[in-house]
Amino acid sequence: MAQNTTIDQKVDSLLSLMTLEEKVGQMNQYNGFWDVTGPAPEKGNAATKYEHLKKGWVGSMLNVTGTEEVRKLQKLVVEESRLGIPLIFGFDVIHGFKTLAPIPLAEAASWDMEAIENSAKIAADEAAAVGLNWTFAPMVDISRDARWGRVMEGAGEDTFLGSKIARARVKGFQGNDLSQPNTIAACAKHFAAYGFAEAGRDYNTADIGTSTLYNVVLPPFHAAVDADVKTVMNGFNILNGVPVTASSFLQHDILKEKWGFDGFVISDWASIMELVPHGHAKNLKHAAELAANAGSDMDMEASAYVTHLVNNVKEGKVSENTVDDAVRRILKVKFELGLFDDPYRYCDDTRQKERLYHEEHQAGVLDMAKKSIVLLKNEGNLLPIKKDQKKIAVIGELANDDNSPLGSWRIGSDNNTAVSVLEGLKKYTKNISYAKGPKVFNSDANFITEVTVNETDTEGIKEAVALAKESEMVIMVLGEHGFQSGEGRSRTELDLPGLQSQLLKEVYKVNKNVVLILMNGRPLTIPWEAENIPAILETWQLGTQTGNAIAEVVFGEYNPSGKLPMTFPRSVGQVPIYYNHYSTGRPGAQPTVFWSHYSDEKNEPLYPFGYGLSYTSFDYSNLKIDASDQKNIEVSVTVTNTGKIKGEEVVQLYIHDKVASITRPVKELKGFQKISLAPNNSKKVIFTLTDKELGFYNHNYEFVVEPGEFDIMVGTNSQQGLHDSFIKN
Ligand code: NOJ
Repeated sequence: MAQNTTIDQKVDSLLSLMTLEEKVGQMNQYNGFWDVTGPAPEKGNAATKYEHLKKGWVGSMLNVTGTEEVRKLQKLVVEESRLGIPLIFGFDVIHGFKTLAPIPLAEAASWDMEAIENSAKIAADEAAAVGLNWTFAPMVDISRDARWGRVMEGAGEDTFLGSKIARARVKGFQGNDLSQPNTIAACAKHFAAYGFAEAGRDYNTADIGTSTLYNVVLPPFHAAVDADVKTVMNGFNILNGVPVTASSFLQHDILKEKWGFDGFVISDWASIMELVPHGHAKNLKHAAELAANAGSDMDMEASAYVTHLVNNVKEGKVSENTVDDAVRRILKVKFELGLFDDPYRYCDDTRQKERLYHEEHQAGVLDMAKKSIVLLKNEGNLLPIKKDQKKIAVIGELANDDNSPLGSWRIGSDNNTAVSVLEGLKKYTKNISYAKGPKVFNSDANFITEVTVNETDTEGIKEAVALAKESEMVIMVLGEHGFQSGEGRSRTELDLPGLQSQLLKEVYKVNKNVVLILMNGRPLTIPWEAENIPAILETWQLGTQTGNAIAEVVFGEYNPSGKLPMTFPRSVGQVPIYYNHYSTGRPGAQPTVFWSHYSDEKNEPLYPFGYGLSYTSFDYSNLKIDASDQKNIEVSVTVTNTGKIKGEEVVQLYIHDKVASITRPVKELKGFQKISLAPNNSKKVIFTLTDKELGFYNHNYEFVVEPGEFDIMVGTNSQQGLHDSFIKN
């Protein structure tokens, strides 16, 4: 508190010295002069940017990295602008800077908050070592649509899990003391409902009701704010007709007023300018007025504020108080980062040399990677493979790829720095032969270009099938290219791209002992594979340590424990598909067609949310509910390891509020615990349900807890578990 008072006082005294132009300057963020993470800005504007930096008309830069570059620009501003207010340097450090952790969706599959926090800490450590002090992460958008490429960047479909992960990531990036040279400011994005882009097409309209907004979309942002996230990014989408960048309702009323958020809001890349094509603003000047009045504090790369905000204030369209409020928020974060004590705090060349690719980081991301793997199927205990297994064929282009497993959103990283699956597996055995199979992806695919897929050239299939035929077992590595998911990467099909399914089917004809290792950035539709292939591991894109993590699981050094954070559909037509849906009025099968179903597909998913197997087995028994203390309802269950080896299990608790003034979903995750059990050992797992878990938001955004009956399910995934119920008075 004392520290805040001092910072507030410092902010006020600095603000009193600033001209209107300098204040607006703090609200302006420019992209660096080379790397872009959005449509390229106009060419030849570097000179203007330099001039603006010198005048103090820039508050922040993005996409400038490396102690030397950062120091150069910081020096320019600190030494040449009138007040010398240091810049804050932002970057998309999404799942690591050089050392890459699994993609965020994969990390979510670990349900392990400690590991996730540690992963963000590693990312912050490396980012801070190259001069950065702000990451545009975590993305906390809930999404139920695997067609949307950005699902790889989030925590999946569930609000409860997503909120816990939002908190863990914010804590990991920011630590306990933002002014430390290895912590950076986090940014919860994209406020709000960007993950509900219609038809899964990126940047598309979101149109959702208040119940979904309040109960599904907003809670992870609220959790991030409660965890003291320093910044929030708005988005490209409109929500119910209003572009979120111009939404006073979201940014002012909810975020700043209701939640008391005291950090600042950054626009998304040129999203203030995009108010014009959205048909909400007449021109850029009008866009600047609307965005500023709606509480967008900083303008990323649209030049809307720096060009027009001063005039908007002079013309009385935006009050100077509004500008002051934005600038106060921005300066406060800069003080908290310690930039006024030492603007070069994050420009330590020694740290830069020492921290990148540090061995502690390798160990941390390996741990995270193992925990992110989900065992989808293991018929006949084909996995783990014995280390003395003879004649193993490894097949598939992705098996020998050291780039794709790094995943998308890794603009600070170096290409080809992943341990490939083949490399990882070969550390355990010499009995491996490799066949690439047909070409699948263009090898020059990168972050800003489209990935192309070979659909016709079958060369390589024959050779792979021949190898499979003479082998005792086959490991197939199939899936998506690392850049097939991420921003701007929506798909209408969710199957294995190119000729990969054909390859798999032909191999399977000659050898049934197939382990399928999936590598992908989103849920896939793989009904044939799920039906026929005996063993399937979902490995997502696991980052730098991919091959090592997968090899540990394949050879049984690590017993997989991941659980799906997103439902796997049977077909694209089922999307959006998610476990916490509402009941229809006609949920059950009827002899006639008049019930809620498809005529050509089941309603059920292929793999439900929360699903994941282990090399051992767990039994659930003894579900008990003690509702005598209505404010702390205790639910307990006994979990027993009934298999032969030690394993970890994510014990999941779901509730169903049976009758409510606003219909509640058929199931909602409200608790989980990850436990470790030796064979034949049991553990009593206890959950406490308070009003926080039992209530919901009504249409006025009031949190209400209604009396009535609640069903409880505790189990191993969102579909299987023990059931009971209790009455809430
Ligand atoms: C656009 C993306 O939507 C956002 O998430 C990202 O942080 C910015 N570009 C900056 O690269």
